[in-house]
Amino acid sequence: MRKKITVVGAGHVGATTAQVCAYKELGDVVLIDIVEGVPQGKALDMMQSGSLEGFDSNIVGTNDYADTANSDVVVITAGVPRKPGMSRDDLININAKIVKSVTEQIVKHSPNCIIIVVSNPLDIMAYLALKVSGFDKSRVIGMAGVLDSARFRAFIAMELGVSQEDVQTMVLGGHGDSMVPLLRYSTVSGIPITQLMSEERANELAVRTQKGGGEIVNLLKTGSAFYSPGSSSAQMVESIIRDKKRILPCAAYLEGEYGIDGLLVGVPVKLGVKGIEEIIKIDLTDSELSALQASAEAVKKVIGQLDV
Ligand code: APR
Repeated sequence: MRKKITVVGAGHVGATTAQVCAYKELGDVVLIDIVEGVPQGKALDMMQSGSLEGFDSNIVGTNDYADTANSDVVVITAGVPRKPGMSRDDLININAKIVKSVTEQIVKHSPNCIIIVVSNPLDIMAYLALKVSGFDKSRVIGMAGVLDSARFRAFIAMELGVSQEDVQTMVLGGHGDSMVPLLRYSTVSGIPITQLMSEERANELAVRTQKGGGEIVNLLKTGSAFYSPGSSSAQMVESIIRDKKRILPCAAYLEGEYGIDGLLVGVPVKLGVKGIEEIIKIDLTDSELSALQASAEAVKKVIGQLDV
C-alpha cells in the first residue's frame, strides 16, 4: 500500500514539498490549507504534470482534516514567512497560534504519524508541536539542518567548481544566525574542505550560510526561500518513508545530549521509519560545543516568549 503524506500549508514551501514528494513517488500527498481553492487548485495542477514527469502519486487538495486521516508523515509549513528586516523570531506570535491549532488537528486525525515542522521560528515551532501533540520525542522533528547544510554545500560547490553531490557538510544548532556550520565535518568526497580552500575562505562561506535565508528574503522582498526548503523537507520524508536511516542534521528534542536539555535544536540524527531512531553524538572541540550551546541558549530564550 502507498504511504500517505500530508503537507499543511499550500503556500510556497508546502506546494514545493508536495511537488518533490510526488516527483519522487514517496506516496500519495494531501495538501491542506485554510484558504479555499488554493490547495485544490495547486494539487490539480501538480496532478496534471504526472504524465510529463512520470509519477503516479495522487495529490489531493483540501480544507478538511478528515481527508488527512491516517497519514504516515505530516509536514507543517503553515504560517507566515518573514519579510526584509525581520528575523525568524519575529514570526513567533502569529505562527505559534497557527502551529498549535494545526498540530491539534493532525493528532486527532493521524495519531500515529511522524511530524516534520518547517514553520518558523523553526526550533520554537517544533518544540510547540512536540508539547501540543504529546507525541514521543522521536516523532516530532524540525527541518532546518538539512536546509542549512544544503546551502553550505551549494556555496562550497560554487566556490570550488565541483559537483554539489560530492560535498558533505554538517550545520548544527538553532535555525538562526547563531547556527553552527562545522568546517571540520565538511568535505568534498571525503577531502576536508580546508585542504581545498583557505580556512579564511571556508569561514566566509560559513558566515554566508548563517545568513543564507536572509540573503534570499532580501532578494525576494515579499517572502522567504522555498525551493531548497521544499527539497529539504522531502528528503526527510523520504528517509522516513523508505526507512533509509540517513544521518541528517535535524532539530531533535535533547535531554542532556551535547549538554542541552529540554528543547529541540539541530544535531545529527538517524532518520528512519520510526522517526528519530538515534541522536548521533559527534566529537566537538570546546569552541564548537560552546557555539552549539550558545545557539541552544538563543532558542531557549525565545521559547520563553511563547504565549499559547
Ligand atoms: N492552517 C493551514 N494553513 C495555513 C494556516 C492554518 N491555520 N494559516 C496559514 N496557512 C497557510 C496560508 O494560507 C499559506 O497558504 O500557510 C501558507 C503559507 O504559505 P506562504 O505564505 O507562501 O509561506 P511559505 O513561504 O510557504 O512559508 C511557510 O515556512 O519556511 C517557513 O518561515 C516560513 O513560517 C514560514 C513557513
